[in-house]
Amino acid sequence: MVNTAVLVSGGGTNLQAILDALHFGEIKNCKIVEVISSSPDAYALARAENAGIPHRVIDIRQHSNRFVYTDAIIDRLRAIDAELVVLAGFMYVLSPRLTELFKNRVINVHPALIPSFCGSGFYGLRVHKSALEYGVKVTGATVHFATAQADAGPIILQQAVEVLEDDTPETLQRRVMEEAEHKILPKAISLYCEGRLVVEGRNVRILGEEPKWIL
Ligand code: GAR
Repeated sequence: MVNTAVLVSGGGTNLQAILDALHFGEIKNCKIVEVISSSPDAYALARAENAGIPHRVIDIRQHSNRFVYTDAIIDRLRAIDAELVVLAGFMYVLSPRLTELFKNRVINVHPALIPSFCGSGFYGLRVHKSALEYGVKVTGATVHFATAQADAGPIILQQAVEVLEDDTPETLQRRVMEEAEHKILPKAISLYCEGRLVVEGRNVRILGEEPKWIL
């Protein structure tokens, strides 16, 4: 079993998708050892509680800068012997020390098709607002390995979602969550925990996947 920590900041629908997928056996060889929230007010904490998963707050507001905060997160990840770290709606860019110590072991979900609408300042609803303002017809979600630069690491899975004419940031966010994020995040976690991801530079090879052209 791969000891996995999930980092959250808010509503926790991605956490819920992970917990549901674990419950139905869709994520293999994974144990969530702790849910860590950057805020005491995150509803994600109630979701962890309801599922009987250990959870704690490491409050970002009680740390002087992101370096000190990242060190506190790393101390906790070591204490719980986490092998894999999942950023599931975690709204802060942590210092490079995390991705150096956990190289190719931090998975992030981003609510757009990277490299569009990503990087510094693109998080939560802002991503969908920017996509609508730009006028794209297709958006989606990306799951990738985190590196020192925000939203720039090797891509594991992507799922496209159509933009509708009457979409608002809120309706688009909901559809991207339901049709993309909540599907590809649990799948990527399972692939990692099954040992089926091989990182070769920027490319992630998925072992045991049927080539798309085999019908
Ligand atoms: C999700 O859409 C997630 O992809 C996004 O915030 C939302 C959190 O929802 N994350 C980012 O924008 C990080 N760059 P959730 O708390 O319900 O999972």
